[in-house]
Amino acid sequence: MPDAAAGPMPDLTIGELREDEAELAIALWHEQKLTRPWNDPHADLQRALGKPHSTVLAGRLGDRLVATVMVGHDGHRGWVYYLGVAGDCQSTGHGRAMMLAAERWLTARQIPKIQLMVRTENIGVIGFYEAIGYERNEVVVLSRRLDTLTIAGGHSPSSSTG
Ligand SMILES: CC(C)(COP(=O)(O)OP(=O)(O)OC[C@H]1O[C@@H](n2cnc3c(N)ncnc32)[C@H](O)[C@@H]1OP(=O)(O)O)[C@@H](O)C(=O)NCCC(=O)NCCS
Repeated sequence: MPDAAAGPMPDLTIGELREDEAELAIALWHEQKLTRPWNDPHADLQRALGKPHSTVLAGRLGDRLVATVMVGHDGHRGWVYYLGVAGDCQSTGHGRAMMLAAERWLTARQIPKIQLMVRTENIGVIGFYEAIGYERNEVVVLSRRLDTLTIAGGHSPSSSTG
């Protein structure tokens, strides 16, 4: 919790993450257990930051980076990833503010829906999303890695005869 004796907290300001904040953002992702061994957070960040269809938003208290959210869209739906608030700054509305900023980013691009995935081991966070107006969908997410796809598996774009 913020230290009341330290005086009033500055307001959260939200804008695009700067390149020089990349390592701080990744440190926050590690701290908040948002990284996974099979995802390179540096590559994830660089693929998304400042692109036409995606970016990473930063929440700052004064000069300090205290929150992030990655937001993007596929032309149909908006997605968010890497929502995290520094541990000592949680429970003061910053998570809600970051999600609102992601929603505004998408709305400005005429994207009508936002959605996200929650890992089953992080099920406790669903209460947060419900508190800010999100609802569960009856959807099972399927995926396949493309970066480790092997030709021997029988799927190769160059071997196509069709
Ligand atoms: C999830 C997270 C971003 C929330 O940020 P936060 O700044 O603590 O949340 P806020 O203070 O904005 O909370 C907004 C509302 O959600 C509620 N809330 C927050 N966490 C909650 C939880 N785990 N369960 C139920 N409600 C919760 C708050 O009480 C508040 O409700 P209110 O406005 O009615 O009082 C933060 O806890 C975090 O960084 N967690 C670790 C990373 C993570 O799990 N990210 C999500 C990956 S899917």
